[in-house]
Amino acid sequence: MSDVDLELRAIEPGDKVTGLSLGDPDFQPLKTFLQRDAKGYHAQNLAKTYAFFDENAKIVGYITLICAEITTERKEDLPAPDLTYNYKSYPAVKIARLAVDKRFRGNDLGKSLVHFALGMIKEAICPIVGCRFAVVDSKQKSIKFYEKCGFTLVDTVSNRDRPEPIMFLDLHKVP
Ligand SMILES: CC(C)(COP(=O)(O)OP(=O)(O)OC[C@H]1O[C@@H](n2cnc3c(N)ncnc32)[C@H](O)[C@@H]1OP(=O)(O)O)[C@@H](O)C(=O)NCCC(=O)NCCS
Repeated sequence: MSDVDLELRAIEPGDKVTGLSLGDPDFQPLKTFLQRDAKGYHAQNLAKTYAFFDENAKIVGYITLICAEITTERKEDLPAPDLTYNYKSYPAVKIARLAVDKRFRGNDLGKSLVHFALGMIKEAICPIVGCRFAVVDSKQKSIKFYEKCGFTLVDTVSNRDRPEPIMFLDLHKVP
């Protein structure tokens, strides 16, 4: 893995989007999305996808971003102490899809995709559009991964019990 040269960039119309190997059948929708929808949604500005490409231009990991909101009944559930805000929905960018080929896992590619996305959001979106959080509906198995990336679980019993609990990150805490 250390001698594999990878390129990280937005997907393009001519890119090959097949061959991602994710292992668990539960992850099939992530594979199907990349093969069937990612390019079209990217071109239509519905969901933007960025990917790691290997030396054969094959995708070995990707992340997809969309606009979103986090809605909370109680302000305390979304701890960001400096906020003075009178609405229940907070503007955010959502990580709608994230996957790394099983043969490439454990090499910081997932974390790099998240950091790449957070960097773009901070640099390109936050200065011109109200956007305070990054948010994700995490698979139960991926909660620890997102915690390592700086995300926090929304702290309610109902959220913790969801099959895909909501996690968020305060963009003001991203350097
Ligand atoms: C979740 C996923 C994207 C992680 O990708 P990855 O490239 O293997 O992760 P990284 O190597 O960047 O790991 C970053 C850190 O998280 C940890 N981590 C990664 N996956 C983890 C898991 N399932 N449980 C606990 N810790 C995990 C790593 O040990 C590493 O810790 P470190 O910084 O202390 O070394 C990948 O496992 C995947 O594609 N899973 C299937 C699809 C999926 O669950 N996507 C998320 C949808 S919400």
